[in-house]
Amino acid sequence: MGFRRVPLTHRVEFLHDGDLLEAERGQSLVHALVAADRLLLARSTKLHRPRGPFCLRAACDGCSMRVNGVPNVLGCRTRVYGGETVETQNVLGSREVDLLSATDFLFPRGMDPHRLFAGVRVASTVVNKLARRIAGLGKLPDEAAPVTEARRREVDVLIVGGGQSGLELAAAEGSRAVLLDDGLELGGKLRLLRPETARVLGVEARAAGAELFSGMTALGVYREGDAPSGALSVLAVQGERVTLFRTRRLLLATGCHDAVPRFASGELPGVFSARAALELDAGNVVPALRIALVGRGPLLDACAERFARYVVARIEDAERVEHAVGTLAVRGLVVRTGGGSERIDAGAVIFDGTPSPAFELAVQAGARTEFRPGTGYVPVLDADGQAAPGVYCAGSMTAA
Ligand code: FES
Repeated sequence: MGFRRVPLTHRVEFLHDGDLLEAERGQSLVHALVAADRLLLARSTKLHRPRGPFCLRAACDGCSMRVNGVPNVLGCRTRVYGGETVETQNVLGSREVDLLSATDFLFPRGMDPHRLFAGVRVASTVVNKLARRIAGLGKLPDEAAPVTEARRREVDVLIVGGGQSGLELAAAEGSRAVLLDDGLELGGKLRLLRPETARVLGVEARAAGAELFSGMTALGVYREGDAPSGALSVLAVQGERVTLFRTRRLLLATGCHDAVPRFASGELPGVFSARAALELDAGNVVPALRIALVGRGPLLDACAERFARYVVARIEDAERVEHAVGTLAVRGLVVRTGGGSERIDAGAVIFDGTPSPAFELAVQAGARTEFRPGTGYVPVLDADGQAAPGVYCAGSMTAA
């Protein structure tokens, strides 16, 4: 059962699937929903299995919802200010009883939608109609959004990623630099482990003259013209605002993606990455009264400390976990022991493992990657630290 550690100070209300819930003004929707013990927030697109927030960093879509008539809004990237109408999407029925999840029972070995009844005329017509109704994620918005003109900005240095490396680079580049980060707050995982250090780094970067933006997502990188050394354009979005930055120096400090559990049913609502759990903790939200920790890493060590009174087990060797237990949300784990297996009851599982570098923007900008066993794909850098002409990588995304 998720709950808040401290009473609300700036209480606001919003609707979730018709129920009136409370929230701390300005916190993310996911914080408010987990605090209200709502872990099941979405359904998977094809088999309609229960999904919940895993990452709290816009990377898993387990918190994708319809908010104020707009589909596919990520609750972990949306602040609550009161008065919002939040609905579960992609269900027939409710998020707990989704009739479309019958697909999972009807096709226990998986479903190939490309061939299903393809050669049977009547059946194929019916299945096509049904598939068109239920396919995709979300329904069109209640109203078309106004067309927004992109703002264009020339900058000397554009930094993407506002964790420790990004903030240090911004402080060093000073007024030449503009920094973007898609998080609701700057600081990356440093903010979760050492919030005061992250705050000071932000202050230093601003004092040096750098412009810092949180909640701004760099969606794509484009090279001007055909020359590999042409200027770079970066398309960035912040709410309704679209900006096209043009630069000759792009510094990427995009960090890493959280490791995902490999044990069966590890995608059940109530399984969180260690980073996500620390985000909840930073907002004074505890995901459950009984918490199991699985894996290793500094973020999980911090979880062990902060949730100490709720931790019922820590399984360092994730390979020992046979599967997670639960139907609509996690209820525990089955773990191999010397002589068999045992069940551990837990309302939340926090997982940590080796993260993988977030190389996507670097590749869009022309970088090559190489595979390193135990790490994953990493951008290849030349002797100057360049991944492509004018593109530099720093911090944990380089796996250095
Ligand atoms: S995308 Fe929001 S929790 Fe993962």
